[in-house]
Amino acid sequence: MEKIILEEKQGNPTFKVSLKNNSKKLYLESYGCQMNFSDSEIVASILDKNGYNTTRDLKESDLILINTCSIREKAEFTVRNRLKSFKKLKKQNPKLIVGILGCMAERMKESLLEEEKLVDLVVGPDAYRDLPTLLEEVEGGQKSVNVLLSREETYADISPVRLDSKGISGFISIMRGCDNMCSFCVVPFTRGRERSRSPLTIVAEAKDLYQKGYKEVILLGQNVDSYRWNINKKEEVIDQNIPSTNFSELLEKVALVAKDLRVRFSTSHPKDMTDDVVHVMKKHRNICNYIHLPVQSGSSKILQKMNRGYSKEWYLKRIKSIREIIPNCAISTDIITGFCDESDEDFQETLDLMKKVEFNFSYMFFYSERPKTLAERKFKDNVPLEIKKLRLQRVIDLQKEHSLKNNESSVGKIMEVLVEGPSKKSALEYCGRNDENYKVVFPKEDSKEGDYVNVLIERFTSATLIGKII
Ligand code: SAH
Ligand code: SF4
Ligand code: F3S
Repeated sequence: MEKIILEEKQGNPTFKVSLKNNSKKLYLESYGCQMNFSDSEIVASILDKNGYNTTRDLKESDLILINTCSIREKAEFTVRNRLKSFKKLKKQNPKLIVGILGCMAERMKESLLEEEKLVDLVVGPDAYRDLPTLLEEVEGGQKSVNVLLSREETYADISPVRLDSKGISGFISIMRGCDNMCSFCVVPFTRGRERSRSPLTIVAEAKDLYQKGYKEVILLGQNVDSYRWNINKKEEVIDQNIPSTNFSELLEKVALVAKDLRVRFSTSHPKDMTDDVVHVMKKHRNICNYIHLPVQSGSSKILQKMNRGYSKEWYLKRIKSIREIIPNCAISTDIITGFCDESDEDFQETLDLMKKVEFNFSYMFFYSERPKTLAERKFKDNVPLEIKKLRLQRVIDLQKEHSLKNNESSVGKIMEVLVEGPSKKSALEYCGRNDENYKVVFPKEDSKEGDYVNVLIERFTSATLIGKII
């Protein structure tokens, strides 16, 4: 029998049509990077075919899944507290299944089952296809674990169930894993080896989203510049009989899906990003003028210790080159303060680099040692926590100055904005993003979600541009 279900999501009613007689309810919560949120949509799709509809109401759920992040210690604390909060629900409903997915599941494996009996199910990022079988085991009274990593899995054939989506912007995973081994980073251990997804399935997914009315796609990978299809690591074509595709070619294929489908991508890596990518961005108006290019530190000594594969000079050359090709390209970054052996002079170099580049946005963190990483095994975490935090505050303050300066220069300009939804502060205002990924707030007038509108910028805060439709 077929049935149609009406769901209420974040106050915005969205219709979810399920052609199956799904009788069970899945509550799915995600932490961490965009890849994790994208993976959750794959999980929802796998479980949709196996009897589960998603719900936003914890109390009515039969299955709670938490898709977790291990990037910093704090991320894991948050998840642990969240899991503890489900204990009461489990007491009220002994049949309730609680499972942990994602990077923390992969990192901690079986040990999570023993710990305080918080979960019944542990599933790593490459094992989601196995979820229905694992759930059967749990229903049969066992605890269940699959944390096998794969060299091939890209979930290429799975059509994600778009969660929390207003049907405007959709993630497309183009690759999984990471082979870079930055010495501070846990991702290679939680996500496994790097592998790319077939360009045909990526373009097909972009077309499908466009046909469903989506206005923007975001191509995701830990290091999108090392996307390769039928190309080996020496940049040679593997099989002459099949077309090969690198990242700039893939980006162009996606941009050609439709002129009014915006294309964004993340994350770029300074050691791998080529000018080809920037030229493709320039050629296609619908590819946004925005590059997230994490630098991590401004000191070549620290960058080497981090095993990032580039120096300060190399990074600055990449920035110069981007700005020569696209002068108004917005650039954002990630910065870590207090990595092993970071001296005052090294830190000063990070501030100097920030002053040279004047990033449009930054994501800033203090170093958190992660188990198994090269830094944990080989280096001393020897910058005191107070110093790490003080340096972080200085980085945050400097970024704020740069953001304000950048935002000030936007006043009086007219920007094309994709309307995403109501602003946080007022029901009379919409919020959207411009080409450079800036948040723009403006009175609704007669525009609607998913429209492109031209906004004249009149005011700003450090995080938002404010204006009116013209
Ligand atoms: N693949 C991306 C980054 C993914 S992780 C890249 O290579 O740039 C996102 C950010 O978290 C990183 O850029 C880094 O700034 C930060 N990060 C990663 N490991 C960290 C750690 N151990 N402590 C603090 N911040 C960390
Ligand atoms: Fe981590 Fe480095 Fe890979 Fe980014 S490139 S995910 S920081 S190992
Ligand atoms: Fe976190 Fe895993 Fe992403 S560690 S940042 S969720 S790849």
